Amino acid sequence: MPAPRPVAHLNGRLVPLAEATISPLDRGFLYGDAVYEVIPVYGGRPFLLCEHLSRLNRSLAAIGMAATYSDHEWLALLSSLIEANGGGDLYVYLQVSRGAEWGRTHAAPTGLAPTVFAFAAELPAEAPVAGFAGVSAITAADNRWARCDIKSVNLLGNVLAKTAAAASDATEAIYLSDGLLREGSSSAILVVRGTVVRAPRETPSILPSTSRQLVLKLAAGCGLSVEVGDVRDSELRAADEVWMCNATRLLLPVVRIDGVDVGTGQPGQYWQRLRRRLDDFRREIAHSPPLTALE
Ligand SMILES: Cc1ncc(COP(=O)(O)O)c(C=O)c1O
Repeated sequence: MPAPRPVAHLNGRLVPLAEATISPLDRGFLYGDAVYEVIPVYGGRPFLLCEHLSRLNRSLAAIGMAATYSDHEWLALLSSLIEANGGGDLYVYLQVSRGAEWGRTHAAPTGLAPTVFAFAAELPAEAPVAGFAGVSAITAADNRWARCDIKSVNLLGNVLAKTAAAASDATEAIYLSDGLLREGSSSAILVVRGTVVRAPRETPSILPSTSRQLVLKLAAGCGLSVEVGDVRDSELRAADEVWMCNATRLLLPVVRIDGVDVGTGQPGQYWQRLRRRLDDFRREIAHSPPLTALE
């Protein structure tokens, strides 16, 4: 597991991660009454920051919380955390809970000070474009709640599905419901057939993924067209290529689903093309001047 870096942010202060503590009465702990983001950082710069902050604010609004900080305040907070941890390539986990009350009340009290926590950690080792064997997935019935578009810390369903995947030596569990593809337990899933990338429609049942958005944007330059709509389980199984996307792994080829090869059973040509395009895109960002204001 990628190691965390030593310095965390807790409620306005940088503190050693090993000494960061919050109240056991925090509603994030008692109720899962909290939302979060995972933001990759390349060359010391948060990647797709506007997209992550806009999703964070959307999640907060969806649970009736005000935006904790302005985008510029978040940028200052993240920049100080990244700098204190030596910069470079990493990811930042940040969580905002409704805060701690003196007791335990289901109905969300007003006026609590939110708990803001963030830490940085190493990114998982990057898959090489050439010679990568790809990853395996299993499928799972989607037994999560009906608002998976909110990036909340209520991840028990995801944890159980991912644990089942790991027990089958697979990297991801792909959720299906009523014969339709939804998403992975920690990723968006895209299906390629011929020169078309098929993406499940964004509904309250799936998370609007920042990396999926970028991949779909860059797909046209790689000779692909994009179709967003219902994607059937049968299309997943008949695909030439299946991809999983998330902030820390960016884009991985799924080459086996439930023990059956996807396409040739090897990472496909379009995955390789898109990965190279994404690498160029990241390099451009890492070599541009330091981020001082949100673009
Ligand atoms: C359930 C779920 N869907 C999709 C994603 C992908 O979102 P993003 O690309 O913004 O990381 C994630 C990321 O962790 C996730 O947990």
